[in-house]
Amino acid sequence: MIGLLEPFTRPLLRMLDPEDAHRLAIRALKIPPFPKLVVDDPRLAVRAFGLNFRNPVGMAAGFDKHAEVPDALLRLGFGFVEVGTVTPLRQIGNPRPRVFRLNRDEGVINRLGFNSEGADAVLRRLAGRANAGGIVGVNIGANKDSPDRIADYVRLIETFAPVVSYFSVNISSPNTPGLRDLQQAKVFEDLLARVMEARSRMSREAGTTPVLIKIAPDLTLSELDDVVGAARRHRVDGMIVGNTTVKRAPTLRDRSTAQEAGGLSGRPLFALATRMLAETYVRVEGAFPLVGVGGIDSGATALAKIRAGASLVQLYSALVFHGLRLVASIKSDLSNALRRSGHDNLDPLVGMDAAAMTAERWPE
Ligand SMILES: Cc1cc2nc3c(=O)[nH]c(=O)nc-3n(C[C@H](O)[C@H](O)[C@H](O)COP(=O)(O)O)c2cc1C
Repeated sequence: MIGLLEPFTRPLLRMLDPEDAHRLAIRALKIPPFPKLVVDDPRLAVRAFGLNFRNPVGMAAGFDKHAEVPDALLRLGFGFVEVGTVTPLRQIGNPRPRVFRLNRDEGVINRLGFNSEGADAVLRRLAGRANAGGIVGVNIGANKDSPDRIADYVRLIETFAPVVSYFSVNISSPNTPGLRDLQQAKVFEDLLARVMEARSRMSREAGTTPVLIKIAPDLTLSELDDVVGAARRHRVDGMIVGNTTVKRAPTLRDRSTAQEAGGLSGRPLFALATRMLAETYVRVEGAFPLVGVGGIDSGATALAKIRAGASLVQLYSALVFHGLRLVASIKSDLSNALRRSGHDNLDPLVGMDAAAMTAERWPE
């Protein structure tokens, strides 16, 4: 239904403030009749972090922050859905306006600042659908005013372990002052030790819930060395590369909107995020799988992420410009690429361009 209406509703939605349009989209996804579950090409199935994904295309964090519509998104064809960021306590985030479309660049800038209904509300929803199947992860973050941010992550692991498929530990949002400092070597070690300890403790009652670390595309390569080294030592299950960027390339066309503070996503993020993915892949040396995110807006860009090192991909901003039908089109392009290459799954393609990419000129 949503797919059919989309050509008419999308231009209307784009006349609205981006945050109002987003609210409407969430509401629409709550209205029955729910779409029939899409059947995927079995060659697109991926096994990673001990989980079986029916396809590698996930909804990135930030779209369904409060876990209102994960099942509708799964039915619409996503292979997995990452809800959140969720903070322990409810918080309203930054003042509006705080989301901006760069129409000419097909980019988005947001400075939402972790607006979250809080762990209790999200837990109720996730517990209510815990037996529904499908891979639903939760992206967790610290409250802005928390006196002990690492304790916030520990508390969220304890809260959600019984009801989610995986955790995404978000230490890379640019919109909570100081949050990205958690990526600095010493404090990152401490964070990982406490988070992994909480995960092990919870495994007795909840099983082992995979822990993925979501990093910023703005790390220097020496910071990335430290982050990957620590992630390997602490045996995290995977990394998500990455979040939005605070950088603004001189090539952006929507110059005045580009000056808004916040994290930039969408097409203008693709080159940087894909390069960081390749840089991460060569450092990880197969120790754990990676999720590639940032600027995917087609089958070709999804395939480029996989060749740069992603076992799974996620997207968000391109849906604003191309609608939810993009998911089916990406999956169909990936199936065709597999058929052409003669492979019966995506594994042989993962990381095949990574080493060559790291030798290229640094992207603008
Ligand atoms: C409006 C908006 C809100 C977002 N909120 C979150 C969030 O709460 N937590 C998070 O880890 N990432 C968040 N992101 C980042 C996305 O998950 C993703 O990492 C980034 O947008 C790059 O992917 P894209 O280019 O496909 O959008 C948000 C992105 C957008 C556009």
